[in-house]
Amino acid sequence: MSKRILVAVAWPYANGDLHVGHLAGAYLPADIFARYHRLAGNDVLMVSGSDSHGTPVTITAELEGTPPREVFERYHRGFLDTQQAIGISYSLFTHTDTENHHRVARDIFTRLLERGHLYKERQRLLYSAKENRFLPDRYVEGECPYCGYESARGDQCDNCSKLLEATDLIHPRSKTDGSTPVVRETEHFFLNLPASSEALTNYLAKNKEHWRPNVLNFARSYIESGLKGRPITRDISWGIPVPLPGWEDKRLYVWFEAVIGYLSASIEWAHNQGQTEAWKEWWYNPQALSYYFIGKDNIPFHALIWPAELMGVSRLYEDDTSKQLNLPHDVPANEFMNMENRQFSKSRGWAIWLPDLLERYDPDAIRYYVTAVMPETRDSEYCWDDFLARNNNELVAAWGNLANRMLGFAYKRFDGRVPEHGGLRPADEALIARAESAFDTVGAQLAGCRFRGALGEAMTLAREANKYLDDQAPWFEVKTDKKEAAKTVYTILRVIDNLKVLLAPFLPFSSERLHHFLGYEGQLFGDLTIQEYQESGRSHSALTYEPEKATGRWEPSRLPAGQELRKPMPLFKKLEPEIVAEERERLGE
Ligand code: MF3
Ligand code: ZN
Repeated sequence: MSKRILVAVAWPYANGDLHVGHLAGAYLPADIFARYHRLAGNDVLMVSGSDSHGTPVTITAELEGTPPREVFERYHRGFLDTQQAIGISYSLFTHTDTENHHRVARDIFTRLLERGHLYKERQRLLYSAKENRFLPDRYVEGECPYCGYESARGDQCDNCSKLLEATDLIHPRSKTDGSTPVVRETEHFFLNLPASSEALTNYLAKNKEHWRPNVLNFARSYIESGLKGRPITRDISWGIPVPLPGWEDKRLYVWFEAVIGYLSASIEWAHNQGQTEAWKEWWYNPQALSYYFIGKDNIPFHALIWPAELMGVSRLYEDDTSKQLNLPHDVPANEFMNMENRQFSKSRGWAIWLPDLLERYDPDAIRYYVTAVMPETRDSEYCWDDFLARNNNELVAAWGNLANRMLGFAYKRFDGRVPEHGGLRPADEALIARAESAFDTVGAQLAGCRFRGALGEAMTLAREANKYLDDQAPWFEVKTDKKEAAKTVYTILRVIDNLKVLLAPFLPFSSERLHHFLGYEGQLFGDLTIQEYQESGRSHSALTYEPEKATGRWEPSRLPAGQELRKPMPLFKKLEPEIVAEERERLGE
């Protein structure tokens, strides 16, 4: 029975290019998961978009002297190109500055207000008399009250990691002009999280079996240390207006509305399909499962605040027949990926930018390495010597060579066809059976979000097939007994055909090519395109996966003997050792 799977992916702030940390933390695991479920015949809805609001975007805009909308539109465009190039197969990758998203965010705010989940409270915040505005936390610096660090930010101290209120800072100063802010009173709406404390505890208990222990523990200890009301409005001008008279100078807080993007993007997707109600299958059907792929710094927002919003809203519109929007079924947050033993830092230039990386390496080479060292259970390391070694020894030597050797050999020595084998030997049958059983074992790992393990298992099979091939050595066999050689070649081609599917979620581009070389018509996956569309006179662009042409299935190969092959080409490129020094050189200011 086919299942509905919502793949919800963290929304990147549109204030800079995407880097390897984004890929490893959220986009790649989400894409592997989505592609696996599509092959398995499930109905996948995969959504995300650019996070267009928030201080990361406004700070960049002020530094550049451009309006925030221009900043986000520029980076948004880049996100589409980059993610298309690396094959992140969103059903829809949109952004939060659409009229649709504004409307859904307003509706959720209004529902929460009606249902008593919001309250108003006066707050004392830092205000710049010089600029005539309240200063967002990140706009203020000062001395940390805990450790004395000189340049603690208004939201957090980078030295001792304590979370701060900007008013806690000693000798605060505005980051934009260095002036000393004053304390002023202002009124804001708060989400009543303490009121949801028990419901959230029950929610976590219900999911404790299948959540990653680090995510579960983090969320639990957050509740145990006592939930506080969270302000969900801000004194800023870039963002979604608060839908109430008298609140014209304020905006919804970016985190409050960005998480709503998962729902609004699903609604937008349904609208674009011309089936305006289709989103409900993923949001109201209790059988549908939702998975949220995020980095660990986003855990509180996805494991607690978003569920609290969803529980508070109950049903979105009065005429919706179900009573409760689906809560996240799993939040498989990843840890961080460091580069060459140091933490990512934009300001120090310690980052590997994806547009740059894609200029020099094939998307599947990047996807292979990032999956092999994915930070699933603890922080991990991206190291260029390891990248080189895994590309050359694993991707090229184990998998690529197996496919190249056998396809090239069959193409030349068996008239460009899958050989007729006239009955296989027990050892051939055993290897094929082994490949066929991998659909269950690798599939179980993928469904359980254990991507490193899944890739490792598929690669073990590739190594076993290589060994079998070396032992049988059909290039000698063919000279003495072509019939025996035909059995070996058929067996290995059949295993390759299985591996093509087993590896397709990780390596979609090369699997697609291999599918073609093996002589099949059609493609494994659908197309990923960038579309322009109009919404109330404004033009938007989005990335969309179109499933129509997909014919791939998560099931064992039935490779027909006699099938005509196409002229094979190498699937992967061996890299030169020099790249290690060159790439290390590129890191840092
Ligand atoms: N923009 C945030 C970040 O880059 C992530 C937002 S995820 C969302 O950390 F769900 F809130 F959209
Ligand atoms: Zn400190």
